[in-house]
Amino acid sequence: MSGLQSALEPAGEQAAGIHGLFWLMMLVCGAMYLLVLGGVAWTLWRAFRRRRPASEPTIDPPDIGLNRGMLGWAGLIVVGLTVLITASFLVERNIAAARARDALEVRVTGHQWWWRIEYRDPRTGGWIETANELHLPLGRTTRVALGSADVIHSFWVPNIAQKLDVIPGRINLLDLTPTRPGWFRGQCAEFCGVQHAHMAFDVKVDAPEDFERWLAGQAKAAAIPADPVAARGQQVVTGGQCAMCHTIRGTPSTGRAGPDLTHFGSRRSVAAGTLTMSRGAVQGWIAQPQALKPGTMMPPVALSGPDADAASRYLMELQ
Ligand code: CUA
Repeated sequence: MSGLQSALEPAGEQAAGIHGLFWLMMLVCGAMYLLVLGGVAWTLWRAFRRRRPASEPTIDPPDIGLNRGMLGWAGLIVVGLTVLITASFLVERNIAAARARDALEVRVTGHQWWWRIEYRDPRTGGWIETANELHLPLGRTTRVALGSADVIHSFWVPNIAQKLDVIPGRINLLDLTPTRPGWFRGQCAEFCGVQHAHMAFDVKVDAPEDFERWLAGQAKAAAIPADPVAARGQQVVTGGQCAMCHTIRGTPSTGRAGPDLTHFGSRRSVAAGTLTMSRGAVQGWIAQPQALKPGTMMPPVALSGPDADAASRYLMELQ
């Protein structure tokens, strides 16, 4: 129940509404369930107490007329269902994307099996790209425009908001209004192929000024490495196979098939939540992606020992 990914510990306005609805449904349905069980028990108890001698017929003629008891039960069911339907309608209306006016604009695109994330740049009006890590300002609504590059996915950060399907050929809007800072976890919630389970993302909720600082950092091009090993790594990464699929802004790497790596080293995980970020994980991922995440679009990249070492050093320095 506890943790980074739990709908029962809401940390967002939308999730709080759903959480309340969950407990209301639990309460009403639980009460109904106990009433029915109690009714069955009471009927059985009466039937056993009134057991007739063996000579008499054991089956009563069925009573098919309406009586006050039956009307009472029917009324109770109608009231219960009306309460649940009304509450559900009100919560849904309240969390539908459209309410906040100055919402932060973010585009999220589902890919097999990772997430492209783009922020509207407040200075230039262009887009700042990152991947697999969503940062949100505390107390402000972020409106996520969800699109898919391939198949149907579903975007879900249980602590913050409801889940919403990500459908090729259309844009679905989802509002997230976090109410508690910290790390959370999002997950693709619609089976989308063999690595569906490894299509996760980290979510960081920060105070607005910290968020702005993070976004300004993400807008920058990659720094030129000072360290000679990292500089060698930059040549390996941006001059070879990696550059065909990945963008590292400020370098010759401009590929679009895979995640933007401009600030890769600042992220918490590798390969959409598959591995915790570390130099070992980065080297392992480059050498053996198909062993770690079978079916991933990432091909293995054969590097010499020193090149692998330099490349991982460079990627970790992309802060
Ligand atoms: Cu994407 Cu499941």
